[in-house]
Amino acid sequence: MNNTDFKRYTVTSALPYANGPIHIGHLAGVYVPADIYVRYLRSTGKDVLFIGGSDEHGVPITIKARQLGVTPQEIVDKYHGIIKKSFVDFGVSFDIYSRTSNKVHHETAIEFFKTLYDKNDFVEKTSFQYYDEENKQFLADRYITGTCPHCSNEKAYGDQCEKCGTTLNATDLINPRSAISGNQPVMKETKHWFLPLEKYEDFLREWILVSHKDDWKTNVYGQCKSWLDQGLQPRAVTRDLDWGVKLPADIEGGEGKVLYVWFDAPIGYISATKELTPEWEKYWKDKETKLVHFIGKDNIVFHCIIFPAMLKAEGSYILPDNVPANEFMNLEGDKISTSRNWAVWLHEYLEEFPGKQDELRYVLCANAPETKDNDFTWKDYQAKNNNELLAIFGNFVNRTLVLTSKYYEGIVPALGETNDADKTVLDDIKNFPASIAASIESYRFREAINEMMNLARLGNKYLTENEPWKQIKTNPERVKTVLNISLQICANLSIVCEPFLPFTADKLSKMLIITLEKWDKAGSIDLIKEGHQLGAVDFLFQRIEDVDIDKQVQKLLDTKKANEEANVEAKPAKANIEYDDFAKIDIRTGTIIEAVKVPKTKKLLKLTIDTGMDKRTVVSGIAEYYEPENIIGQKVSILVNLAPKDLKGITSQGMILMAENYDGKLCFVAPTETINNGSEVK
Ligand code: 2FM
Ligand code: ZN
Repeated sequence: MNNTDFKRYTVTSALPYANGPIHIGHLAGVYVPADIYVRYLRSTGKDVLFIGGSDEHGVPITIKARQLGVTPQEIVDKYHGIIKKSFVDFGVSFDIYSRTSNKVHHETAIEFFKTLYDKNDFVEKTSFQYYDEENKQFLADRYITGTCPHCSNEKAYGDQCEKCGTTLNATDLINPRSAISGNQPVMKETKHWFLPLEKYEDFLREWILVSHKDDWKTNVYGQCKSWLDQGLQPRAVTRDLDWGVKLPADIEGGEGKVLYVWFDAPIGYISATKELTPEWEKYWKDKETKLVHFIGKDNIVFHCIIFPAMLKAEGSYILPDNVPANEFMNLEGDKISTSRNWAVWLHEYLEEFPGKQDELRYVLCANAPETKDNDFTWKDYQAKNNNELLAIFGNFVNRTLVLTSKYYEGIVPALGETNDADKTVLDDIKNFPASIAASIESYRFREAINEMMNLARLGNKYLTENEPWKQIKTNPERVKTVLNISLQICANLSIVCEPFLPFTADKLSKMLIITLEKWDKAGSIDLIKEGHQLGAVDFLFQRIEDVDIDKQVQKLLDTKKANEEANVEAKPAKANIEYDDFAKIDIRTGTIIEAVKVPKTKKLLKLTIDTGMDKRTVVSGIAEYYEPENIIGQKVSILVNLAPKDLKGITSQGMILMAENYDGKLCFVAPTETINNGSEVK
């Protein structure tokens, strides 16, 4: 169907797990494109619901709660609040931001499950799974650790070894342990319900590989094809866990079991709609509704294969018309990672760049990972802000308003007579809304935002070529025309930038003192009437200075260092020695009393050490880490009976003990209490 054939739109965006705050990767991959799409649809007067919410189930949440000694509910309450606020702060304009721990969701998910259960759409299977006898609990994959059979990593999980990246089954692990008690788990029989995905293979092939061959993104289509070509397997939809949507009491063998999080989470879109409106069914069951899921690439199989199979099995729901999944946004060349704190967290960004939501939205959209993974760098953020938003958009609007204020006290001058160049510009203005719309409707948001900026570029070029600041002396009538046209461009910008830069659109329309018009008015060259009084001029964007960027880069460098430190593994001990071997070594406390660089070397310092017995020369390879003048008076431990050795023509009488940090830095091994030089270290 064409867009015009749809009566309404249901737009969903992946429900983020409520076990941490959200970062730029979330915004770039899912929420900025979804919000642009929805804002555009609303502006065109479409009936659209934008559904979001927190995904509050799943094993990682229970693990986090256990680690912190709190309940899973406390975890999700905390992060649901933080995430919801971030979305409000960044202008992500959900009609509802719900959560999967609420009652309506549990009821809806169970009703869905029961419908399939009653129709015998599930297959029941009994299997053996690991069980922790002490805690009387079956162990989800992430709750089992052991040695990876491929790389011998002793901390591999029951579903994956994070060291070598291999996907594992819990039974592959050597020496499996329960992550809860540390005990060896036992095998125990358990029953689960499976959705026989293979039964839906033909339907999915036809629906995706044939019907959506041309309108789904190639990354989405490709992943689906690869799943389908491998052949689909039955998928368990229940788990032995005490956190999630509990199976109802009347399901035999269902006690102690919950729905698998990926079964209940997408139903969360439906429950949220139910919570929002009593008319929810038409947004989910009417064929004239266009359903679009915005997600990241790791969610493709769930939204294109499993959820559609669920919907098809249930029978009364529509299927998504499109699933415009994005690839991933990396950060400064490295994968964004919550556990490594390698991210730009939205709430932290706003503390450091208050009021600059649109600046981030702009960069994340202009650089969105639409067809391949992309990289966010702070330098690029600065460049896009300074050279594009500020230099093109901001500068054009500012010049137009300042000149109108200066020459006409902010009153819109008449259009007057237009020349050929003016006519071309006026024609161009008319074409922008359609071309921006076409890109948005085909989920090409990078292209769309660039086209929106092209309108600002057009304005900038027009002003520069017509030089009203010069013409005001020679041809004042002409200036009226130039500024009238420039003001029409400003007003057009306020409409077409709104999906991308909602805060800017609002500010710009307030400066122009016009109502922020809808999309159908865009393209008009009479948006601001002659004689209209404009408001006070303010800057739309500010320059971002090097110091601000350097601070962010340094913050990431600090994170990297902290991660490296946290991951340092001590080298294994050397082979055992006898005490007699150790007793031969004579280590004493001493003090450095002189230090000079050894000429023509980078690493060596010539030290004079007071050993309590004598004052002797020691050549030490620590020059890269210490300035000679800073170590006078430094206490040291010195091996005094090492045979003297000539180094660069200096006889070194002993060796001071240094500990080598993971990064190669050498640190003094010295007494921390006051002690006489010459004391024996034993
Ligand atoms: O990947 C995730 O973050 C999931 N919580 C997304 C769920 S989307 C939907 F199905 F709810
Ligand atoms: Zn491994």
